[in-house]
Amino acid sequence: MSELRIAILTCSDTRSPAEDTAGQALKELSTARGWSVVEYRVCPDEHDVIASALVEMADVFCADVVFTCGGTGLGPRDVTPEATLSVAGRAVPGIAEHIRAESLRVTKRAMLSRAVAAQRGKTLIINMPGSLKAATETFSFVADQLEHARDMAAGGGHG
Ligand code: MTE
Repeated sequence: MSELRIAILTCSDTRSPAEDTAGQALKELSTARGWSVVEYRVCPDEHDVIASALVEMADVFCADVVFTCGGTGLGPRDVTPEATLSVAGRAVPGIAEHIRAESLRVTKRAMLSRAVAAQRGKTLIINMPGSLKAATETFSFVADQLEHARDMAAGGGHG
């Protein structure tokens, strides 16, 4: 199958694209795997803004995978998981479980992330934490399963 189409949505009230080292890292890590980054955006921690960006990334840009970055914690403005679930047809709990399990081996603070993974149609949305370190680690925990995930979402069999 063809390369993955990736979209990246950084959710932050304070970050500009120039300051978004985590989002830039996700871009570079994706490109290094031969995937194409079809859309990249930074938006505020606003439920409806995040939700409509995710809809566009899935339905207009036809991303196979959307990485959100940030807004998964316990702060009053952290709404990325809720916005994700509001536009997704079904959750993919195993991805979030795996990320949490691996992340807890690195830092106990991983228990403070409420990140989810979910599908909107054929698009897989994966919440990642917002720091450069955490986003980079999280990418490394899931990257090798994403091409197979895309093939399954497209109706392909198990290989
Ligand atoms: N996961 C990994 N792998 N490495 C980390 O350093 N940091 C945690 C957690 N997940 C971390 C991690 C911290 S400190 C927080 S507060 C939560 O992610 C939520 O981050 P967010 O609010 O930026 O999404």
